[in-house]
Amino acid sequence: MRTQVGIIGSGPSGLLLARLLHLQGIDTVILESRSREYVQGRIRAGVIEQGMADMLREAKVGERMDREGLIHEGINIAFDNRLERIDFPSHTNGKVVMVYGQTEITHDLMRAHIDEAGGIVHYDAPAVRVEDYDSDSPRIIYEQNGEQKELVCDFVAGCDGYHGVARQSVPADKIKNFERTYPFGWLGILSDVSPVRDELVYANHERGFALCSMRSHTRSRYYVQCKIDDKVDNWSDDAFWDELRRRLPTSVADSVTMGSRLEMSITPLHSFVAEPMRFGRLFLAGDAGHIVPPTGAKGLNLAASDIYYLSRAILAYYKDKRTDLLDRYSETALRRVWKAIRFSWWYTSLLHKFDDDPMSRRLQISELDYLVNSEAGRTVIAENYVGLPFEKFE
Ligand code: FAD
Ligand code: PHB
Repeated sequence: MRTQVGIIGSGPSGLLLARLLHLQGIDTVILESRSREYVQGRIRAGVIEQGMADMLREAKVGERMDREGLIHEGINIAFDNRLERIDFPSHTNGKVVMVYGQTEITHDLMRAHIDEAGGIVHYDAPAVRVEDYDSDSPRIIYEQNGEQKELVCDFVAGCDGYHGVARQSVPADKIKNFERTYPFGWLGILSDVSPVRDELVYANHERGFALCSMRSHTRSRYYVQCKIDDKVDNWSDDAFWDELRRRLPTSVADSVTMGSRLEMSITPLHSFVAEPMRFGRLFLAGDAGHIVPPTGAKGLNLAASDIYYLSRAILAYYKDKRTDLLDRYSETALRRVWKAIRFSWWYTSLLHKFDDDPMSRRLQISELDYLVNSEAGRTVIAENYVGLPFEKFE
């Protein structure tokens, strides 16, 4: 089998790339190790930046998002039994974020790319490795129905997440990994109850971090910081709600509506960057190249900015025989990646409990008090949260 762009992984980055290229007449084949139902059912991100929302509109999959997504003009930060609101538009020249689930984005992309446009996605077809990425005809070796097969391409996009094979196909001495793990995870619940506030609440508490988020006016997503080796089985719904409410200011805790879980899961927190993001004709995008802790809501948005640069570079190659954008992809994408890595690490450090040292706690509270009482501090949070601009890439 042969195609112009072989894509490994049908998460948001793989699907968005395929959709944007398809609209420009470029052929793609996506190989996905899991089933369509599994990919569609994963509960993950909820907050999207304006840059990503604009890309979904460019990909002609923004209609339902614009109808059903919730525009948020600020977030709340809780600490010391206080609740402080950070306003976005007044600190960022009018920018806002959109609350619209990754599950819905994936659904919209699948419907447009596969069901309506006939784009090719092979599910239950795990890639095994990428070969000959330094040549003009890189190949993806994959498995389907117990057979080993080969997809020959002009370019390979590794959109296969942190555990994927694209990055692992490159010899260790050609790649530099930067990594930080955190000594805790997030326990998340999804429940059909109305959210406690119209906007998200990020809480710093002596028992640990908590987050109140949502998917709609009737569906809430809440998280509490948990032990790194904690298990979902250790948590009843009641135990979750008790712990969440203990970590919120009284005024917020008293109005939490509790309900039974639709889903409960634990996410470890991790910062990771692989450099570079291009190896000959193999390009890494999204979680395959970098991971951020979810605190800043940046992971999905970074996947979208990688695809912004990569789709334009591939288009310039086919339309104008230009290779300069392909050459600049890694450097340009990484500049934005590192800024989001830094923000996510800092925001995680500010809000989580790392140890029992009272000095650490006083330092966090004092930093939060400083930030919310300073226009510069509020701007730092707002500007990073709504998303830094994409560089012009044309
Ligand atoms: P993935 O979504 O991981 O997709 C990779 C795909 O590749 C998967 O479908 C996988 O099955 C497939 N694959 C893997 N190996 C192979 C193989 N060998 N062959 C073929 N296919 C393969 N981000 C935000 O921006 N905002 C948020 O609010 C936010 N909240 C989050 C909350 C949680 C609880 C979690 C877990 C994450 C959150 N994120 C958030 C991060 C976001 O979900 C990810 O950054 C995003 O999914 C990355 O998309 P991707 O397409 O690069 O990778
Ligand atoms: C979510 O709604 O899942 C969510 C929101 C904000 C974050 C992380 C996750 O920072």
